[in-house]
Amino acid sequence: MSDEPWWKSAVFYQVYPRSFADSDGDGVGDLEGIRGRLEHLAWLGVDAVWICPFYRSPMTDFGYDVADHCDVDPLFGTLEDFDRLLAEAHALGIRVIVDWVPNHTSDQHPWFVEARSSRDNAKRDWYLWADGPEKPNNWKAAFGGDTWTWHEATAQWYLHLFLPTQPDVNWRNPELAAAMHETLRFWLDRGVDGFRIDVVQGLTKDTSWPDDPPGQLLPHAAVNDRADTHAILRGLRRLADAYTPDRLLLGEVYLLSTATVAGYVGDGDELHLAFDFTPLYAPWDAGAWRARIEEVEVEFGRRGAWPTWTLSNHDNPRHRTRYGGGERRARAAAILLLTLRGAPFVYYGDELGLEEAEVPPDRVVDPGGRDGCRSPMPWDGSPGHGWPGAEPWLPWAPDPASRNVAALRATESSILHLYRRTLAARRASPALATGAVALRPSPAGVLAYERTEGEDRRVVLVNFSAEPAAVALDGRWRVEVDSDGLLEGESFPGRLAGDHAVVLRSVD
Ligand code: NOJ
Repeated sequence: MSDEPWWKSAVFYQVYPRSFADSDGDGVGDLEGIRGRLEHLAWLGVDAVWICPFYRSPMTDFGYDVADHCDVDPLFGTLEDFDRLLAEAHALGIRVIVDWVPNHTSDQHPWFVEARSSRDNAKRDWYLWADGPEKPNNWKAAFGGDTWTWHEATAQWYLHLFLPTQPDVNWRNPELAAAMHETLRFWLDRGVDGFRIDVVQGLTKDTSWPDDPPGQLLPHAAVNDRADTHAILRGLRRLADAYTPDRLLLGEVYLLSTATVAGYVGDGDELHLAFDFTPLYAPWDAGAWRARIEEVEVEFGRRGAWPTWTLSNHDNPRHRTRYGGGERRARAAAILLLTLRGAPFVYYGDELGLEEAEVPPDRVVDPGGRDGCRSPMPWDGSPGHGWPGAEPWLPWAPDPASRNVAALRATESSILHLYRRTLAARRASPALATGAVALRPSPAGVLAYERTEGEDRRVVLVNFSAEPAAVALDGRWRVEVDSDGLLEGESFPGRLAGDHAVVLRSVD
């Protein structure tokens, strides 16, 4: 395993910095807050943390509208804070991935301010402009409305796949491409372990501006898939590969086809890892998950690529709420996530079994309706739940007085301890960490798979139904991890409760 890259056996933890931990009492999380809570990540046993954008930004998309790729927004701290956070994470053995937003910038970015100043400005071509009077096409923007905004002063349309405050850049312009490369080098030279790259599939567009087919319900960003984007990725990969130790390019490829997403690893010369969101949108159903695993194995396997597994993130309702079924089902989902073949991504707070927060209309702030999954991390049972000053920017998820880090850490039977035990089991088992996967026959409602690496074997059983199920297995098996925590260390009795999952170890 030693010549494998570090990310192949890594479990990732996603931090949404506004919501994780606040050090200065303004109600918005910050880098010092994250640094102060690294011990939680080390205790939990994750290998790497991905931090969503903390760069200078007017925050119309809460940081995904970047106004300076090479500086920290004062809301989140300073570059020195970042350096300290990185050094302390590394000292704890935790790698740090930062977000990189190359498809668009803020309309307040100095590049766009220059570009829009006149049609013959040297940076005009760093963005995508089109003549009027008609809009060039019918593309829909990601949060509603069209992808085109008229710029009155220079009498042209500019393209934005997201908000009008997020103009798309023109990667075909070599100066823009070089400037973007410089922003990567800036963070690589500081020592980051890699990047989560935003909207990879958007990087190039068909600038003959064809219409999307009539009746296309998806925003254009979710269907834009082009050969010339792959050349850009190969350039990024060359840049990353020039660094040692190895750095990770993890791409958000928001195209809802596993085969297409897998293509973004190229021939081992593009992304190292690509997010496949089809499992995130799969229902909590054994057949649906069996089909997901089969397809991922075929399509990622064809490319020799390492899969990724995400149940929740900052763009979607939390999976505990989506799946229904309460905490027991969320526990079964934790075992599924952490034992699949590929890189699992734990979204902050899922280890507490957080539900979606209810956000009253007067507290809605996100133009994309995503506030409910971005609630503040409850650290303890005090009135401020570990947030030291102003009320946090978003409401709490339900029950923060009992569902918080301190309370669940003090309770061995909690979901938080289940995450920790499952992560420890994964780390201790080559089969679970990097081994092969084979689906096994199982009764309706149950998913069964085996993970193997050499002599090391584990069987995972997940009962997606609320009804108990009998599962016959050849050989003798001991329960290593039990989502309900009841059977660990005992022989597997041949049945599962409803909403129940186990990791089994062969005793033969
Ligand atoms: C994907 C990010 O995950 C999302 O939060 C953001 O709004 C869009 N890209 C635009 O940057």
